[in-house]
Amino acid sequence: MKLESAQTVKVPVLDVEKLSVNRSGKQVLEEVCLKIDEGEFVGLVGPNGGGKTTFLLTVLGLLKYKKGRIELYGETSPSRNTLGKIGWVSQAAANIPSNIRLTVKELVQLGTLTASNMFWRFTAEQNERVNRAIEMAGLEEVQDTNIFHLSGGQRQRAVIARVLASKAEFILLDEPLVGIDRESRNSLLQFLDKLCHESQKTILMISHDITAMQQASHRMIFLEERIRYDGESSCFPDLADLASLRGIQSVHQTNYDEDKLYQISNIEDKK
Ligand SMILES: Nc1ncnc2c1ncn2[C@@H]1O[C@H](COP(=O)(O)OP(=O)(O)OP(=O)(O)O)[C@@H](O)[C@H]1O
Ligand SMILES: [Mg+2]
Repeated sequence: MKLESAQTVKVPVLDVEKLSVNRSGKQVLEEVCLKIDEGEFVGLVGPNGGGKTTFLLTVLGLLKYKKGRIELYGETSPSRNTLGKIGWVSQAAANIPSNIRLTVKELVQLGTLTASNMFWRFTAEQNERVNRAIEMAGLEEVQDTNIFHLSGGQRQRAVIARVLASKAEFILLDEPLVGIDRESRNSLLQFLDKLCHESQKTILMISHDITAMQQASHRMIFLEERIRYDGESSCFPDLADLASLRGIQSVHQTNYDEDKLYQISNIEDKK
């Protein structure tokens, strides 16, 4: 029998087992099981109110859960070091109020601040991380521009660059595609894909844009209280299969009253 050495056993970045969450007395997540490995780019999709943000907030430890288990990098009570590996870009994070005067570089620098270093000058190591994050996000040319003057896509990349500067390895993004044009969307998705392939980052991204997620992510999860689909993006179910997975029945009767339909279309034609 071949024994696997301890070095070859990879601990998943996220391991969620039978997670159930209630909000205001209503069950929002039911027995959600999910494992994500390093370097994966996972798209989390589902309808409004399906529980996507709730799932992220629970993984981040911001919401309590009723039942289940969550492990981040193999830890159920994540250490400070592990928490430092997690980066979160909240829903509408890029909607920065217009009265905030902040350049791209200053925004990214905020990502390097911790409770212990915030009263000191930026070190060479922090500056290096900031420059690298700006470079990765392709924002060198606008680094001294006020974030208010950026396009939606650039602003999204700036808030992600802030997370990158914080040494985050597992990046959770809540709807980063909202409000950005087609070109920006494509470049943002390419940027995220590159982060996984070239920098071994792991991404869990929420989006309503199923088509975009199918083109960009490696794996997709459809969440509506429970996980209805978890698999390769290329095998994501078509609309009819998705309806059946979600328990949605066709509202159109199959035994139409042909006479009645004829009368209705006649009335419509005469209008
Ligand atoms: N602050 C809150 N207090 C109580 N219930 C909430 C709260 N926020 C959301 N909910 C409820 O939890 C359920 C899941 O909401 P959640 O925001 O996780 O869904 P979502 O999939 O992220 O939706 P969307 O796509 O609209 O962002 C919904 O029924 C919602 O009404
Ligand atoms: Mg949400």
